[in-house]
Amino acid sequence: MFNFDFYNPTHIVFGKDRLAELDTLVPKDAKILITYGGGSAVRSGLIDRITKSLGNRKVEQFGGIEPNPSLETCERAVAFIKDHDMDFILAVGGGSVVDATKLIVLGAKYDGPVLDVLKAGVPAVPTSMVPEAVPFGTVMTLPATGSEMNNGAVITYGDGKFPVFSDLVFPKFSMLDPTLTFTLPEKQVKNGVIDTFVHTTEQYLTYPVDGRIQDRFAEGILQTMIEIGRQTVEEPENYDVRANHVWASTLALNSLIGAGVPQDWATHLIGHELTAAYHLDHGITLAIVLPALLTVKKADKLDKLVQYAERVWHIDEGSKDEKADAAIAKTREFFESLGVSTHLKDYDLDETSIERIVKQLEEHGMVALGEHGDITPDVTREILKRAL
Ligand code: NZQ
Ligand code: ZN
Repeated sequence: MFNFDFYNPTHIVFGKDRLAELDTLVPKDAKILITYGGGSAVRSGLIDRITKSLGNRKVEQFGGIEPNPSLETCERAVAFIKDHDMDFILAVGGGSVVDATKLIVLGAKYDGPVLDVLKAGVPAVPTSMVPEAVPFGTVMTLPATGSEMNNGAVITYGDGKFPVFSDLVFPKFSMLDPTLTFTLPEKQVKNGVIDTFVHTTEQYLTYPVDGRIQDRFAEGILQTMIEIGRQTVEEPENYDVRANHVWASTLALNSLIGAGVPQDWATHLIGHELTAAYHLDHGITLAIVLPALLTVKKADKLDKLVQYAERVWHIDEGSKDEKADAAIAKTREFFESLGVSTHLKDYDLDETSIERIVKQLEEHGMVALGEHGDITPDVTREILKRAL
């Protein structure tokens, strides 16, 4: 196992009928800005309920944060916070609202363009540059990204999507009420199942380092998602099933399963370019890229693929190679069983899209991806050809 630090200060407030507790979670004298998305939280009445829970506190709202949030939107929110001297932010929505809020709370404490903060986002925004962030909490309405309990965000700028990390952007608290996800469109639930699954494989399907706890946590998340994936799509108001989905999404990307083990993330980084170029949902890009990537990288990942085959899919027959192939096929079948197509052509993309994605990756410096840094542009090309 590799050396690691594990740090996660986010307070999780899980379960139904807990909105009133916002009154104790949010500082009494805070001037609060509620950030939200395109309006789902207004239409469902959630914003009203939250405002009520906040009692007499001064509350302002900043809506219109779009999926795959843009730098420009963050800049507008930062200007609002600086003008109005807001001192606590409450993000209400899915990963996009929470991610945007993370850049916003850093940008609001930086005396310069928000773009500087985004550009300094990897490996992490230096505290010498941004020493503090405006504190914020979240009310999460979409189980997928894990953004409710991690220190990362993904922001769209120009023709790319760029990660930004900082330990200052762990939410102070995240309220995870599965009933708030009942209004999700079916498509977003499918995306959430796939995102959760692929966050787990990015940290599990690499090479063995005897991280037994991490492996078994990861296998538990994968098995749970396989068990409940279709059910949570087909029975959106089944509380217990959705509760498991919500908690799995959080645990899949809160540093726990990735501590001390190698991580891949190439599926995500290639997927981000597909979203930036063709506006495909994040979850869809992962369903396209992962099976193709596992096929191309089978030899390097063989030991973990066999472990995945045996422990997650209970495939006990055949050679190592056959087990790996069968597990990859099962993975694709799982995504397809949710009603999510796993080929580029299903989204009207052909060979020409491959060169565009490879070019974008090169322009963004993404030329050595994966746990060994050996997914070069040529390897990406091969992966995308497999994904056609
Ligand atoms: O904007 P509104 O009107 O709220 O509608 C949203 C949006 O259209 C809707 N929605 C959310 N909750 C709802 C709801 N509709 C009805 N009822 C509800 N309860 O769902 C749509 C999609 O929302 P979005 O926040 O974009 O989805 P998601 O949570 O999947 O977030 C995707 C973003 O997260 C990034 C992705 O790249 C993408 O930009 N990621 C962030 C990560 C992180 N911070 O750690 C890791 C991920 O790998 C991912 O890259
Ligand atoms: Zn993801």
